[in-house]
Amino acid sequence: MNDAERAAELRKEINEHSYRYYILNAPIIPDAEFDRLYHELVALETAHPELVTPDSPTQRAGSDLQGDFPKLTHPAPILSLSNCFSEDDIREWEQRNLKLLPADTQLDYTLEPKLDGLTIVITYEDGVLVRAATRGNGLVGDDVTANVRTIRSIPLRIPANPTSPHAVPSRLVVRGEVMFLKHDFAALNEQQKSAGLPLYVNARNTASGTLKQKDSRITAGRPLTAFIYAIVAADSYPTRTQWETLEYLRDIGFTIPQSTQHFPTLSDIIQQIPTWVSRRNQLDYEIDGLVIKVNDLRIAAELGVVGKDPRGATAYKFPSEEASTQLVGVTHNVGRTGKLTPTAQLEPVFVGGVTVTNATLHNYDFVRNLDIRIGDRVVIKRSGDVIPYVIGPILDARTGGETPITPPERCPHCDSPVIQPEGAVDYYCTNPQCPERVFRQVEFFASRGAMDIEGMGPQTVKLFFDRGLIKDEADVFTLTADKLQGLEGFAEKRIENLLKSIEAAKGRPLAQVLSSLGIDGVGSTVAESLAAHFHTVDALAAASPDSIQEVEGIGPILAANIASWFSNPLHVDLIQRMKEAGVQFASAAPVTESDSLAGLTFVLTGTLPTLSREQAEALIKSHGGKVSGSVSKKTSYVLMGESPGSKADKARQLGVPILDEAAFLAMISHN
Ligand code: IVH
Repeated sequence: MNDAERAAELRKEINEHSYRYYILNAPIIPDAEFDRLYHELVALETAHPELVTPDSPTQRAGSDLQGDFPKLTHPAPILSLSNCFSEDDIREWEQRNLKLLPADTQLDYTLEPKLDGLTIVITYEDGVLVRAATRGNGLVGDDVTANVRTIRSIPLRIPANPTSPHAVPSRLVVRGEVMFLKHDFAALNEQQKSAGLPLYVNARNTASGTLKQKDSRITAGRPLTAFIYAIVAADSYPTRTQWETLEYLRDIGFTIPQSTQHFPTLSDIIQQIPTWVSRRNQLDYEIDGLVIKVNDLRIAAELGVVGKDPRGATAYKFPSEEASTQLVGVTHNVGRTGKLTPTAQLEPVFVGGVTVTNATLHNYDFVRNLDIRIGDRVVIKRSGDVIPYVIGPILDARTGGETPITPPERCPHCDSPVIQPEGAVDYYCTNPQCPERVFRQVEFFASRGAMDIEGMGPQTVKLFFDRGLIKDEADVFTLTADKLQGLEGFAEKRIENLLKSIEAAKGRPLAQVLSSLGIDGVGSTVAESLAAHFHTVDALAAASPDSIQEVEGIGPILAANIASWFSNPLHVDLIQRMKEAGVQFASAAPVTESDSLAGLTFVLTGTLPTLSREQAEALIKSHGGKVSGSVSKKTSYVLMGESPGSKADKARQLGVPILDEAAFLAMISHN
């Protein structure tokens, strides 16, 4: 195919995808693939300008206009952004700009999240919201005023705070992004699920569909949020810089993109990128990159516009995390509890920087709700350290030859019957001695979050199982240099180190051993309570369900479960052999720094700026306080970080005081 033919093909494909994306709200390829096609066309047209045709999608941004909404003309073009994909791209962007400016101009910048929602343009006259429009084709948008009025984060009158020191221009047009916060989107899907309705797959498309509802009561029932980041037009400009603009917008009542930063140089901005990449998953909203803006609005305006992109701002796009590929088969993984997890086998696909060949399908409920089938083209996501997962099938790509995915009737590892317990979502292998379950349990037992035996990762555990060196957790403590000698990869030093870490693990405190045994419902919090109450493993093993229930936070079902675990002859034998091998089940005296928080119960929510969740919990406990998982009238304080969950709402409802990290730390240090 020659360049002209390829360009024609790309034009056709991109126009089709634009129609599906902007008009039907039903894209069949991920954004990243669309971007790839688009950039291929831009590259071809840049190299061969004679190939540009008037109908080329590069000649106009996609449009979200829909036939049946009244149209509104924007007071100024609603521009888009150029893209950068690397540090070099960003530096080149600055160099191009500096060439257009007087010598020795110093540029400072703002750094904002690139919110993955849809653009909204809102007009206020004499402080009152009078119009709101979608971006449309950049010049004319759909009038969605009635719908925008239902969005609670958008003030109907500004300044929203009547005592605000700021006067508002008689006409002010602002621009921002409408989207679902992740927790709101999850709640919306919960509602769909309980109503037996299909789940929404993509937050952005759902936000778009919601904003373009004909009936604004439907929009009102769905919790959209708007972040505002720019002034499009005003009678008199109230600010000189982007940074001031954001502060101003916030002061008069808008929600501005959180975590926005201001830096004196581009190098500072570039240094921030890795932090943002790793913070991305913790944010309560989807972002697909960062926006870097020249802070001085006069300079930004002077720099002008190329096509539809202002020179004074650019988007740094994160490496694509989504891709589409063929689902060629399904395996059913069995975990230590016996739970079966369907895993999709994929036609290899490059995503998030690696080639992915399988992805989790979560559970069979998920598969059924989204009607995912073998043979489907599916969208998958790989984000940070999270294991790749299937987002959903591309229904329009179905050929009819796809086959449904059902849970197996027998365990693929031990052939025992598989059951779905009454009221449970998941399916389970019924054989507690299933070799795969036992292997997974030992793998967990040795892992960092459990007994923390260094040098005993999954591959080593697998090797020991395959060689018949261990059959369960107790066997780990009977390993000797003799048994390990001659194993491939096990030189003297490695054997010595492994035996040392096994020896160290024998002294782990009782609570840590208890939470490593994989007893259903016994995580670290319950294990701590059990250890604090019973002190020795023998006392716990001999306890009746009634006396276990006396431990705070343990109800009748969990108590019965724990008692039944300890009365199982297999487990009696396991504990006995662990003791014989030297495991101490040591009861540790709690370290108490002070009792300044005695009598107080804390609930944690969100991500704290400096403390990890574990550190915060440890601090509370070491000062005599308690940590609880849910907010009630008995909660003394909610310690809240960024992107808090519903616990913060609950606290406000119940009037429970909310602390940030600084206030919490002050509380400890003052006492
Ligand atoms: S500034 C001239 N800032 O990204 C100003 N845009 O790919 C241009 N977007 O259409 C926009 N977050 O809808 C800006 N903090 C942010 C943004 C942002 C998301 C969107 C915007 C734009 C698209 C460009």
